[in-house]
Amino acid sequence: MKVLVIGGGAREHALCRSLSHDPDVSALHCAPGNAGIAEVAELHQVDALDGPAVAALAAELGADLVVVGPEAPLVAGVADAVRARGIAAFGPSAEAARLEGSKAFAKDVMAAANVPTARSYVCTTPEEVDEALDAFGAPYVVKDDGLAAGKGVVVTEDVEAARRHALACDRVVIEEFLDGPEVSLFAVTDGETVVPLQPAQDFKRAYDADEGPNTGGMGAYSPLPWADPKLVDEVMETVLQPTVDELRRRGTPFSGLLYAGLAITSRGVRVIEFNARFGDPETQVVLARLRTPLSGLLYAAATDALISFPPLRWSDGAAVTVVIASHNYPGTPRTGDPIEGLDEAEQHDGHAYVLHAGTKRAESGEILSAGGRVLSVTATGPDLTAARTRAYGAVSLIRLADSHHRADIAAKAAGEA
Ligand code: AMP
Ligand code: GLY
Repeated sequence: MKVLVIGGGAREHALCRSLSHDPDVSALHCAPGNAGIAEVAELHQVDALDGPAVAALAAELGADLVVVGPEAPLVAGVADAVRARGIAAFGPSAEAARLEGSKAFAKDVMAAANVPTARSYVCTTPEEVDEALDAFGAPYVVKDDGLAAGKGVVVTEDVEAARRHALACDRVVIEEFLDGPEVSLFAVTDGETVVPLQPAQDFKRAYDADEGPNTGGMGAYSPLPWADPKLVDEVMETVLQPTVDELRRRGTPFSGLLYAGLAITSRGVRVIEFNARFGDPETQVVLARLRTPLSGLLYAAATDALISFPPLRWSDGAAVTVVIASHNYPGTPRTGDPIEGLDEAEQHDGHAYVLHAGTKRAESGEILSAGGRVLSVTATGPDLTAARTRAYGAVSLIRLADSHHRADIAAKAAGEA
C-alpha cells in the first residue's frame, strides 16, 4: 500500500522508519517531514493544518492510507478532510481529538465513563482560581485548557507561581496532585475494538533527576520492568475501553491512537491526560519493539477492521531513546546550528539509530538544528542496560553546540541509579 505520513518530528521519523521496513508498504511519502525522514520517505510541502490541501496531496499521490502524526492537524480536522475524500485516515476526527485539545472536555468524558483521574475544577475567573488552589493545597497542578505542546502544565509548591500561570490562561483546569510514577500506554482503536501497545515511560522534566521545567519529553524506555504485569489489562478495563465506548456513545467515535498518560498512585492507576496521537518520544521505543508490520495495524484501525486483526507481536528486548535538545529548550530554542557525527552515531554498533525531531538540510548539504528537540537517539538491546549503553554511546558521538540531554534516561529502571 501507498502511505502518506503527515508531520515532521521524531515521532513521524519513527513511524516512517517502521513503515519503510514494512513489506506491505510499496511507497512512502511524508509531508512536511525533516532531514532525517528524507532518507526513508519522499517529502512533500504542504500546510499540515490545511485539511483540503492534505487530502488533495493524498489523492494526487494515490495514497491508500494517510497517517496524521501531530495533534494540531487532528484538532484542525485533517483526518476528517482525508476521509471525506474517500481515503483511509489513521487519526481521530476533530470532534474526538478534543480529548486532547481540551482538558475540560477530557475530564467530562472521564467523569461520564467513570475513568479514574485527578479531581479537578475548571476555572475562568481569578476568584475561581483562588478557591480551587485553596481547596487542593500544595503541590499545585495548573493546566492551560487548550493545546500547549506539553508545556501548558505547571506543577509547583509556590502558590504565587500557580496563580500567575492560571491567570495567564483563559480557561484553566486546576487539579489534585497525583503522586507515583508515570506510565504512557498507547492503544490503537477503530472506535470500537481497542488494541493496547506496550507501556513506556517518558521523562518530562528538562534536567537529570527530574529537575527543571516540563518539556515535550526528554527520553523514554520500554518495557517497564518495575510495573505490575497486570497493568495493561487493568488500564484496558478501567480506562481505554470505557473511554472509547463513551465517545462512540456520544456519536463521536474515536479512531486512531489513544494515548493514556497515567500516574500509578498509592490509591491505584489515575489518568493524568489523554492525547489523541502517538506520544513523542515514547513512540520511538514502542515502535522499536513492535514486530507486527505497522501498516496493516494502522490500516485496520482506519477501516474499522481491528476486530479481526491478529495479536500483536513484540520483541522481548528493550529500547531506550535519548532526546538531544537545543540550547535554551524548552525556552525559545536557538536553531540553525550544524549537527555533526550523525553517521558515526549510526554506525558505531549497529543497534543505535538517530531519529530527527527538528532538523533541516541546508543548501550546502549540512544538517542544521531547526527546533527545540533536535534528535531522538534510539537503541535496542537484550535489556535496558544494553539499550542504554548503546543509546548513550551514540549520543556521545553527536556534536551540536550548546545542546543538552538527560544522562539518566532509564537509569533507575535498569537498576543503575
Ligand atoms: P500533561 O500535559 O497533563 O500530561 O501534564 C504534563 C506533566 O505534568 C505530566 O506528565 C506530569 O508530570 C505533570 N502532571 C500533570 N498533572 C499532574 C497531576 N495531577 N499530579 C502530578 N503531576 C501532574
Ligand atoms: N511524551 C509526551 C507527549 O507526547 O505528549
